Amino acid sequence: MRFTGTAILSALAIPLIAHAAAPTPAPSPASAPAPATAGPSTNTGPVTWADFLTSCQTAGQIALTYSEGPSEATMEMLETLKEGHAKVTFFTNATWLQYMQYAGVTRHAYLDGHLIGMTYRLPSDTSAGRTDAELKEDIARASRTIQDLIGVYPKYMKIHESNLKDARLLNLVKSMGYTLVGFNLDEYDYKYNTAATSSQIAEVYNAMFSKQNEAYGRKASYIVTGYDVPSTGAAAGLPKVINTIVAHGYDMVRLDGCTNDKTPYKKDPILNNGFVGDAKSFGALEYKHGQTQVKAVTYNPANGGGGSGSGSGSGSGSGRAGKSADGKGSLKTSAGSRIGVAVITLVVPALLAFLL
Ligand SMILES: *[C@@H]1O[C@H](CO)[C@@H](O)[C@H](O)[C@H]1NC(C)=O
Repeated sequence: MRFTGTAILSALAIPLIAHAAAPTPAPSPASAPAPATAGPSTNTGPVTWADFLTSCQTAGQIALTYSEGPSEATMEMLETLKEGHAKVTFFTNATWLQYMQYAGVTRHAYLDGHLIGMTYRLPSDTSAGRTDAELKEDIARASRTIQDLIGVYPKYMKIHESNLKDARLLNLVKSMGYTLVGFNLDEYDYKYNTAATSSQIAEVYNAMFSKQNEAYGRKASYIVTGYDVPSTGAAAGLPKVINTIVAHGYDMVRLDGCTNDKTPYKKDPILNNGFVGDAKSFGALEYKHGQTQVKAVTYNPANGGGGSGSGSGSGSGSGRAGKSADGKGSLKTSAGSRIGVAVITLVVPALLAFLL
């Protein structure tokens, strides 16, 4: 099956196709279109993949992004990232922040110098039956929850897969000044999600870098999509991913480094009235990029690594079970904890069937 020309951009089919594509996604040409810029938008027409940020401005950069956390997997990833001196972007699902242990993990991620964006999923998965004002308020509520914790309102936004075809939502989010984030590399952590297969995640990167190099003889830039939830192999696969990035000479950046954006947070959760930076934003004193080789970190939550203290109230019916008993839990699927990933694996094939 082949897609060509503008047909590719005319539908939101691309992110969905990317999920179901062969394990080695096609390389993205270094001359990929410039990323969509943030800011006021008067566009109320159909939203296409071109409205999403899908690559960086500088060849050789790679921005790892993780959605749907914080979770039991996030703390292990923070340990690995710290060892590799690497910064990434977390799209926080504000719903989980009402649980103290997850709020702690997100704050930890922010203080470690990672960029905090937000994921958003419509209540009941549809914008129908709600006014613009109600939708804006729901988005803003999620944003305020994050701001309460880290002091700034997120600007970079990942829309949940099941809402990607809701043009009204996407236009609204754009008009509010949020930057819609897509990707051009899917690390397939939801597919390589067992102890035996998580090392395959690094092979996805390896294959992409190698193909790009063979085809064009120069580096491209990447925005990677991953999921910091325990039912994926993201945490277990991360050490090898970082080492693969080192081996190919790419430079790990947060999304603000990827877009040369000195103001990666919003001034207001609803109004499109400007942006702010903080001490760790691109161009500021404490901004960091790059990475160093890591050993496979042995994550031991019992020794203070955990963001989820035992007995700290995660049994409150949230459906997110507490940390697994063996304390290694990143590959353990806690019961019912990762509905989002179930949606990806169940809904995406259904959408694909529809689109193709
Ligand atoms: C967080 O994820 C859950 C499960 O997918 C979803 O029901 C909830 O709406 C999400 N929260 C936000 C703010 O998107």
